[in-house]
Amino acid sequence: MTQPRSRLRPAVSQGMACAALVTAAGLLAASPASSVTRDGTGTAPTAAQALAAPDIPLANVKAHLTQLQSIATANGGNRAHGRTGYKASVDYVRAKLDAAGFTTTLQQFTSSGSTGYNLVADWPGGDPNQVLMTGAHLDSVSAGPGIDDNGSGSAAVLETALAVSRAQFQPAKHLRFAWWGAEELGMVGSRNYVNSLSAADRAKISGYINLDMVGSPNPGYFVYDDDPAIEKAFKDWYAGLGIPTEPETEGDGRSDHASFKNAGIPVGGLFTGAERTKSAAQAAKWGGTSGQAFDRCYHSSCDTTANIDDTALDRNSDALAYAVWTLAATAPPSGDSYENTTDVAVPDNGAAVTSAVTVSGRNGNAPSALRVGVDIKHTWRGDLVVDLLAPDGTAYRLKNSSGSDSADNVIATYTVDASSEPANGTWRLRVQDVAAQDTGYIDSWKLTF
Ligand code: TRP
Ligand code: ZN
Ligand code: CA
Repeated sequence: MTQPRSRLRPAVSQGMACAALVTAAGLLAASPASSVTRDGTGTAPTAAQALAAPDIPLANVKAHLTQLQSIATANGGNRAHGRTGYKASVDYVRAKLDAAGFTTTLQQFTSSGSTGYNLVADWPGGDPNQVLMTGAHLDSVSAGPGIDDNGSGSAAVLETALAVSRAQFQPAKHLRFAWWGAEELGMVGSRNYVNSLSAADRAKISGYINLDMVGSPNPGYFVYDDDPAIEKAFKDWYAGLGIPTEPETEGDGRSDHASFKNAGIPVGGLFTGAERTKSAAQAAKWGGTSGQAFDRCYHSSCDTTANIDDTALDRNSDALAYAVWTLAATAPPSGDSYENTTDVAVPDNGAAVTSAVTVSGRNGNAPSALRVGVDIKHTWRGDLVVDLLAPDGTAYRLKNSSGSDSADNVIATYTVDASSEPANGTWRLRVQDVAAQDTGYIDSWKLTF
């Protein structure tokens, strides 16, 4: 140090305040009664209707099933992984999405010696750090055409994606749709996809919705009881129709949502039942036949277009559209601040100290322009090295020390590209005084998302 020292400041006070959420705007909770339209599809949406989820035309969903059936029939009776009927199914879905303005990607993988494909379709726009994904497996077993399992989910997801295009829906979140290969071999395609993502890209997926078997001929109405927000969207929609649902607990490891759940991504979905038997109580509330499987043709050659309950397929398609519209409409608003006002003494020419701020309840990653408001009282600010530490410990340098910076205090707002960091967790401000004589304390600091 070459500059003269002066204005030494003695003891610092130690406040008691904790990290606090200063502002938080809640999600807009759309009520299903007022925001679900079930009145046909022929007219252009008005401004108000543009915000409401569309009615998904059952006829369109069934037309996709007819095409998938034809593809199976023309390819040896199935659409299984490694068979020509699978790739033909991918080509069919992809052409529809390309024509509707999606950016489609084919991801290849190898399983059991055959090439498999995942089809991923991104809808341009929305916050790239807040991705809402919806998916269905497109492969059948080799025993049959796989129209309920899982033409039904594939067609419902496809038609929902096409409805996004028709409405030119521009939600706050980014929308991504996917059709998985080789689910029937053990969720191979979806696992490949999730594993192919960087940790940063995985963290950007704020939720994954899975549809696997949503038109079972003796249907049950099961909603995955996993992520509460996704589950609520589906339950709200069914409540609006006055139809009771049951939590789907059986399927945790039985479809592609498992690949996402295993990576810590919030999941949800719909299911109308497979080989299990409908109980008398279930038949009483849902209709259908008790003592009979939800899908007697599960994994069989008779899983054809005749193996579909239209009402269940229609409801679940509409429920999916409602969930996508509702969950994607709002991203956690920017402008929320999280602050710690507890004073922390910074020892003179000593060890680094930290002050913590805990962020919770946000989806996805921090913004590329995360603002870090710093209020450090000090008698010679050049002594101080200041870093922001992300929850995983990654350090972002805010300020270096300087032998010539003799001013008081560090009162500044820094902007950090934190877009590779999950927002939630404990962030720290780290301050070290690296030169003798002048001292100070962290008065307060805050993160603004
Ligand atoms: N493809 C799944 C399977 O064969 C279908 C399935 C059965 C399922 N039970 C489920 C999907 C429960 C979701 C939840 O296992
Ligand atoms: Zn399936
Ligand atoms: Ca000092």
